[in-house]
Amino acid sequence: MSIQTVGIVGAGTMGNGIAQACAVAGIPVVMVDISEAAVQKGLATIAGSLDRLIKKEKITAADKDKALSLIKTSTSYDDLKAAQLVIEAATENYDLKVKILQQLDSLLTPEALMASNTSSISITKLAAVTQRADKFIGMHFFNPVPMMKLVEIIRGLQTSDATHDAVKALAEKLGKTPITVKNAPGFVVNRILVPMINEAFYVLAEGTATPEDIDEGMKLGCNHPIGPLALADMIGLDVCLAVMEVYLEEFGDSKYRPCYLLREMVAAGRLGRKTGQGVYTY
Ligand SMILES: NC(=O)c1ccc[n+]([C@@H]2O[C@H](COP(=O)([O-])OP(=O)(O)OC[C@H]3O[C@@H](n4cnc5c(N)ncnc54)[C@H](O)[C@@H]3O)[C@@H](O)[C@H]2O)c1
Repeated sequence: MSIQTVGIVGAGTMGNGIAQACAVAGIPVVMVDISEAAVQKGLATIAGSLDRLIKKEKITAADKDKALSLIKTSTSYDDLKAAQLVIEAATENYDLKVKILQQLDSLLTPEALMASNTSSISITKLAAVTQRADKFIGMHFFNPVPMMKLVEIIRGLQTSDATHDAVKALAEKLGKTPITVKNAPGFVVNRILVPMINEAFYVLAEGTATPEDIDEGMKLGCNHPIGPLALADMIGLDVCLAVMEVYLEEFGDSKYRPCYLLREMVAAGRLGRKTGQGVYTY
């Protein structure tokens, strides 16, 4: 299946980033959200991001105009009918996603593929609520989408080889580097990343080193661009805690127990950058 037009559900942080990546690669997109205000906000974010790329001389003003001309926005799912692939990038809520996917399933052509950008919901489980489970897959982009090279392509138990190959080819067309992952909690990157962050909280809680020295250690010793505690502040401590709780529940293995200090800080409302205080003060 060759993908000529991509539909995107959700014009938020990830949805508008995916739309931009497609349009810059010359692929027409239809970006749908629930309100005109939401799609306009998404479109304004894309325009701002393209302007920054012009300033950095990565693209020209003509490239920007061409990319914007390839993005159609709408508040009606009907406009997604022309797409051979629809990527769902709406709010992370299971019931909401089920509703959206079932609506798309009844409306798209039988051949059309469906993908979800979910960070934490099982692709196998989402595929199962549609009548096209073999044509359903996870496409996990990273934030900010236009800058981040990786896409995790997540195969549910039901995903066909043809679906995998078509979506992988699309990711490559977007200039991304896809990795193929079997559906499992946290997929690959977050499965390794979040327990590492959790471990950094244990090291901090035990008084082994200061936050600054823990972060400096991981930056200089492992060549990480940012230390785990500073990264936790960026992601949100509540998000890190919720992810650890999912791993603990899903794997039933005590090695995923969230650090007590992480729990304490979340209970205190010290969630990181978004609240002005996390491990560090902002
Ligand atoms: N933010 C990240 O760093 C990140 C990274 C990878 C994956 N994800 C995943 O991507 C998805 C989107 O996350 P986000 O950060 O872009 O969220 P966001 O809150 O920025 O955007 C979500 C958008 O979905 C829209 N929406 C809600 N209900 C809708 C509906 N019924 N139809 C159409 N649009 C609807 C909202 O209006 C909003 O604009 C989530 O599943 C999230 O887990 C997020």
